[in-house]
Amino acid sequence: MSHAFICMLHTTMAITLANANGFSVSTFSTGASVTDIKLPNGTHVVLGYKDLEDYSVNSLYIGCTVGRCTNRTANAAFTIGGVEYPISANVAPNHLHGGFVGFNKLTWRVTAQSETSVTYSLLSPDSDQGYPGNLSVTATYTVTPNNELIIEYRASTDKPTPVNLTNHTYFNLAGQGDILGHTLTLNADNYTPTDDNLVPTGDLASVRGTPLDFLSSHTIGERYQQASDVGYDNNFCINATPTLESDPNLKYTAKLEEPTTGNCLEVYTNQPCVQLYQGGYLDGSVNGLDGSPILKYTGLCLETQKHPNAINQPRFPSTLLCPGQEYYSKTVWRFTCTR
Ligand SMILES: *[C@@H]1O[C@H](CO)[C@@H](O)[C@H](O)[C@H]1NC(C)=O
Ligand SMILES: *[C@@H]1O[C@H](CO)[C@@H](O)[C@H](O)[C@H]1NC(C)=O
Ligand SMILES: *[C@@H]1O[C@H](CO)[C@@H](O)[C@H](O)[C@H]1NC(C)=O
Ligand SMILES: *[C@@H]1O[C@H](CO)[C@@H](O)[C@H](O)[C@H]1NC(C)=O
Ligand SMILES: *[C@@H]1O[C@H](CO)[C@@H](O)[C@H](O)[C@H]1NC(C)=O
Repeated sequence: MSHAFICMLHTTMAITLANANGFSVSTFSTGASVTDIKLPNGTHVVLGYKDLEDYSVNSLYIGCTVGRCTNRTANAAFTIGGVEYPISANVAPNHLHGGFVGFNKLTWRVTAQSETSVTYSLLSPDSDQGYPGNLSVTATYTVTPNNELIIEYRASTDKPTPVNLTNHTYFNLAGQGDILGHTLTLNADNYTPTDDNLVPTGDLASVRGTPLDFLSSHTIGERYQQASDVGYDNNFCINATPTLESDPNLKYTAKLEEPTTGNCLEVYTNQPCVQLYQGGYLDGSVNGLDGSPILKYTGLCLETQKHPNAINQPRFPSTLLCPGQEYYSKTVWRFTCTR
């Protein structure tokens, strides 16, 4: 595809998907972002910017697709086949969330669209942010009649490159206030401990007896101060069972409930890990959908992903994508709880 063609289509677009119940999901081409999710009873359950132009800056990564690699890569470098690749060191000395100009800052093209589904596509050229190979990526959002949003990422490359994409949606099931009263269950016996730079050490540790034990439900507020100065920001390894009835490749990952409204979210994924981040770095510097500042702990992320720093950690499964392979990540957010 020629560059002229890409430039011609370089216009931003907002697209809203909806089912017959009135469950709707709004998306935007900058970062292939999820900008709003509205339940049938009218509650807006994710954080978003009022002004869509804010998505082109988005230092808080609200609602966007993060890539080529989410989270930190130690010392912003990795080696493939004896060749070292320095990558964008946007949080020196490390690489974070795809670098200075990650996928969240780019304008994706709409390549398929219906009332309930949209596909955004992106071509990340060879050496983009230092990563090897031309990478072709799509993000597909589909709304189902059961008040589910299905998120699918696909990628292919012409040279081996690490890939692990995630989106960065902050949930607030009450649609207002903080998330400390939300109750969470995580289907995870283990987590990945980190060093002083928050880079995973390569070990797995049991959650038992720690504030990270969400095997039975707990409110976020109950133990977050024991987790860290900014509350939860941890990566969990999802247990292999149970799985989704309609798709055994998708593992039951999490259930989030807001007791005063009864609003509820279940997460299912084919990815090995989920990052729980409770919005400890939100600082009121930007305004949300209702125009008021987005404050600390007003939204919570459950980012499904591969193991952080996997490329530099022989003990973690590989995130390397090779020519001829397809990267495929699928996650379901179900807003009608069954568990
Ligand atoms: C990436 O695509 C460009 C343009 O099509 C091509 O010249 C280049 O060889 C490709 N890079 C690799 C690593 O295949
Ligand atoms: C990256 O992952 C580590 C380990 O789970 C976590 O402590 C850290 O906060 C994460 N950083 C970001 C920006 O997601
Ligand atoms: C809002 O809708 C969701 C999803 O249909 C439901 O689970 C929840 O109980 C409803 N909440 C209220 C306050 O009606
Ligand atoms: C996208 O992010 C949300 C919330 O942070 C998470 O629950 C979901 O699993 C992610 N989806 C994918 C495909 O990574
Ligand atoms: C995979 O994702 C993690 C965070 O989830 C990131 O730190 C890592 O760099 C990514 N992959 C590779 C191959 O490095």
